[in-house]
Amino acid sequence: MKVLSGIQPTGRGHWGNYFGAIRQYIELQGNEQSFYFIADLHALTTVRDPKILRQNIQDSAIDLLALGLQPDKATLFRQSDVPEVTELTWLLMTITQMHLLEKCHAYKDKKARGLAADAGLFTYPVLMAADILIYDSNVVPVGVDQVQHIEVTRDLAQRFNSMYGDDCLVLPEAHVLDSSAKVPGTDGEKMSKSYDNTIPVFATPKKLRKIINKIKTDSTPVEDPKTPEGCAVFNLYRLFATQQQQDDLAARYRAGGMGYGEAKTTLYEAAMDYFGPAFEKRTELEQRPDDVEDILRQGAIRARQKAQSVLERVRAACGLKSQPVSL
Ligand code: ADP
Ligand code: TRP
Repeated sequence: MKVLSGIQPTGRGHWGNYFGAIRQYIELQGNEQSFYFIADLHALTTVRDPKILRQNIQDSAIDLLALGLQPDKATLFRQSDVPEVTELTWLLMTITQMHLLEKCHAYKDKKARGLAADAGLFTYPVLMAADILIYDSNVVPVGVDQVQHIEVTRDLAQRFNSMYGDDCLVLPEAHVLDSSAKVPGTDGEKMSKSYDNTIPVFATPKKLRKIINKIKTDSTPVEDPKTPEGCAVFNLYRLFATQQQQDDLAARYRAGGMGYGEAKTTLYEAAMDYFGPAFEKRTELEQRPDDVEDILRQGAIRARQKAQSVLERVRAACGLKSQPVSL
């Protein structure tokens, strides 16, 4: 079984990204074979500054490694290091019906907002299908927002197979990540970079303190009993705490006499304990850019070997020479 997923390098990860996605990727890394890649080609549809893109790619790799992705257990690589994927995108594009892409949400939403979409955004799901199909991936862990794209991938693989041969492409399954507990942001709404309410995983202690202090709470006076349910500070604390610790803090809310400032300090300390070791690992990795590059290179070599063999099979199936001329 092969597990594969891609992470867009569009900015620094926040608590929502970590608890909603990254932590779960890391938990899956021991499973048979797992491939995780930094979807830099996809990011080009939104990040147009080369300097920022380069920095984001590096940051994403370091973040993942610091948070526990182990290169001996999971293959970590950059999408653009495997050019075969863009060739497969073209082959798939030739069998992709327009209506399939017209209903995909990234394009549809942009159009609905009256913004001009480019062909990159329109065909984004085909590149994603190629990402998945080129490694014969069986399972693709994704957030609910990406399930539609896995459906498109399955449709394209089925259509391709019905035209060119049943065993050509492997049909993947989505493994929907558990984001049932949507991580709230500092304003209590879903944490998202689009809402400017995020708490970065790797904020400095000082910055973290400042952001946590900004979390919106109601104006119940210190001495009055408070309701933990629905309080963003409490809901965020739950991400880091054992059941016992959650019950203890809930009891302090209900008893009265504890202000939100104190609850925020409890949250701050829990987050510092939780992410402290990753923060140190990150600082250390930042000093070793060559080692990070080496991990990405080794990952890409492994990924590319698989991609080349699948692409040969696909090229031959549709009537092309299985390999291009070598130089
Ligand atoms: P953003 O909303 O900040 O742009 P992304 O869409 O880049 O975040 O998120 C990447 C993944 O992180 C999503 O597929 C989802 O699984 C997870 N995620 C993001 N925000 C949250 C959140 N607030 N709660 C739970 N999971 C989240
Ligand atoms: N589109 C995904 C996202 O925005 C990232 C992605 C690109 C991906 N290619 C993929 C995820 C292939 C899973 C499999 O989150």
